[in-house]
Amino acid sequence: MLRRVGPSLRHFLLEKNSRAGRSSCSREAKMSRPVQARRLEGIDKNIWVEFVKLAATYSKVNLGQGFPDFPAPDFLTEAFSRALSGGNHMLHQYTRAFGHPPLVKVLAQFFEKLLGRDLDPMTNVMVTVGAYQALFCCFQALVDEGDEVIIIEPFFDCYEPMVKMAGGTPVFVPLRPNPPKDGKLMSSADWQLDPAELASKFSERTKAIVLNSPNNPLGKVFSREELGLIAELCVKHDVLCISDEVYEWLVYDGKQHIRMASLQGMWDRTVIIGSAGKTFSATGWKVGWVVGPDRLLKHVRTVHQNSVYHCATIAQEAVAQGFQRELMLYGKPESYFVQLPKELQQKRDWLVRSLDGVGMKPIIPEGTYFLVADISQFKSDVPDVPNSDEPYDQRFAKWMVKNKGLAAIPLSAFYSEAHKNNYSNFIRFCFAKEEATLKAANDILQKWKQEKTSS
Ligand SMILES: Cc1ncc(COP(=O)(O)O)c(C=O)c1O
Repeated sequence: MLRRVGPSLRHFLLEKNSRAGRSSCSREAKMSRPVQARRLEGIDKNIWVEFVKLAATYSKVNLGQGFPDFPAPDFLTEAFSRALSGGNHMLHQYTRAFGHPPLVKVLAQFFEKLLGRDLDPMTNVMVTVGAYQALFCCFQALVDEGDEVIIIEPFFDCYEPMVKMAGGTPVFVPLRPNPPKDGKLMSSADWQLDPAELASKFSERTKAIVLNSPNNPLGKVFSREELGLIAELCVKHDVLCISDEVYEWLVYDGKQHIRMASLQGMWDRTVIIGSAGKTFSATGWKVGWVVGPDRLLKHVRTVHQNSVYHCATIAQEAVAQGFQRELMLYGKPESYFVQLPKELQQKRDWLVRSLDGVGMKPIIPEGTYFLVADISQFKSDVPDVPNSDEPYDQRFAKWMVKNKGLAAIPLSAFYSEAHKNNYSNFIRFCFAKEEATLKAANDILQKWKQEKTSS
């Protein structure tokens, strides 16, 4: 600021400031211009901060945030202990910046199998601090000022601010619910894109589309036909795909997770994002990765090298050992990637029955460890406030945790500001929980239901 004023005025201002400083030592120097960067405008609020705090303060049972409350598998924690206190003291030092060699090697081997193509561990794989950093690096590396990025609603909430921080403009397209006519419970497969609406969002300004399959929050696993439609549009309009596949192993009822990069013409334009936290039930480790063609990854590496650069070596070593085990047991019943979805499917079914029993209609997820439920029948307990800016489901979830001790996340948290009131009769539960936790949630719901019927 001072650079722009003439020398005498500058002298006067400096004098004035220093006099003010002397007369009131305790008063803080105020800058006359905003201290924050312009790119932070409008993205400072984050619903998770509020809901995590509410859950910590009030919840007896927390089915809100997405993490398991059961232990990570023994083979993984044992690998971590070996890495920590085994003989190799170099595991306490920096490792290769773009990924610990044993981890990128085994990830390349694994994805070669899954994608049916040769991969170079050094150029086709990069390790990050969780999938979150992988997403950040991809948006920063691939999205420019003025670019449009298509985001399918409902979406994992960080996509929108990350696109904006990169200077891009998010363009939203909703999954639209088609309730089954036969009175059956809705499935996440009943939430679909309208092909014409999706096509209308692509233009010469579109740089990328974000795909999240299996999808958080709905649990939708996109079908080959749906992926084919998106792929066709990407190829036609020369658009990239940021494919968030952190729940790739969590699919149920014999469904198959299809990888966008395996579709015709998509490898060259897709970055696959994964998470050891979700894969091995160890979200606190924050090990993630990006897999893709070098022509995209070389730019993703540039962002990584100028931001985080190194990820914790010991956690990478242990995850590498976890993948080596899984590679050996691939497709076998002892594989964690076979066992975990089996166990989670039982938990899902249990929660479906529990919610259905009290009239909080569940939408049966085909994948992930989340379940969205319709709260319409509970509306009388938390009356709507007409013309309120706050979506109904937010108020409901806050009321529920404060009054019933049960934490969940409002579905509106997964919609853009403009659309957050469109689907505000739903809340999301996480069912990656011990049996006792799910039973405790069921007790709360049953008691609530009894109170409702007797009142
Ligand atoms: C869809 C999706 N992507 C990415 C992440 C972030 O994963 P990580 O914990 O590995 O950073 C999450 C976490 O909940 C998620 O649900």
